[in-house]
Amino acid sequence: MKRRISNLLVGSIIAAGLLSVTSHVAATTTVEVYKSPTCGCCGKWVDHMRDHGFTVKTHDVGNKEIRKKSGISNTLGSCHTALINGYAFEGHVPAPDIARFLKEKPHAVGLAVPDMPHGTPGMEGSRVDPYSVLLIKERDQERKDTTIYKRYDPHAQQVERSQSEPEPQPQQTGSVMRLK
Ligand code: CU
Ligand code: CU
Repeated sequence: MKRRISNLLVGSIIAAGLLSVTSHVAATTTVEVYKSPTCGCCGKWVDHMRDHGFTVKTHDVGNKEIRKKSGISNTLGSCHTALINGYAFEGHVPAPDIARFLKEKPHAVGLAVPDMPHGTPGMEGSRVDPYSVLLIKERDQERKDTTIYKRYDPHAQQVERSQSEPEPQPQQTGSVMRLK
């Protein structure tokens, strides 16, 4: 009986392992997130990363120190800093962009979405602003010297959507994110 249970256990562990390997490269990547314990939008961004298959470990010690250590300029600063495979990701960077970046493995410091634009993952609400995911090529690079890795423009997306999906989802209202 004992043996049977352990066999079952081993079987399910192997199955889970296979699943994580085949489902996404993200599942094998651990994300170390440095954030404030009271930051609500940071928690939502962590959920967003987990939803995309990343394993996330949080450190509720703030992110000012780790940002500096990681070579991210204060001009690119946001509410949290994430470390993955030696790269740094500042702020509400969408998980698909991080996955693409990790696949491309560029010679760079990482990516940043400075400040906390409305409509970014973890900052969802009734307001959606355009924003850019910035590529940090060198340590301590100023915001003005970075390049755009990916641009998000809600108006451009609306045009795309109206072509591919005739019935757009009704916009979620009533959830207002608190800005710290
Ligand atoms: Cu935030
Ligand atoms: Cu945050």
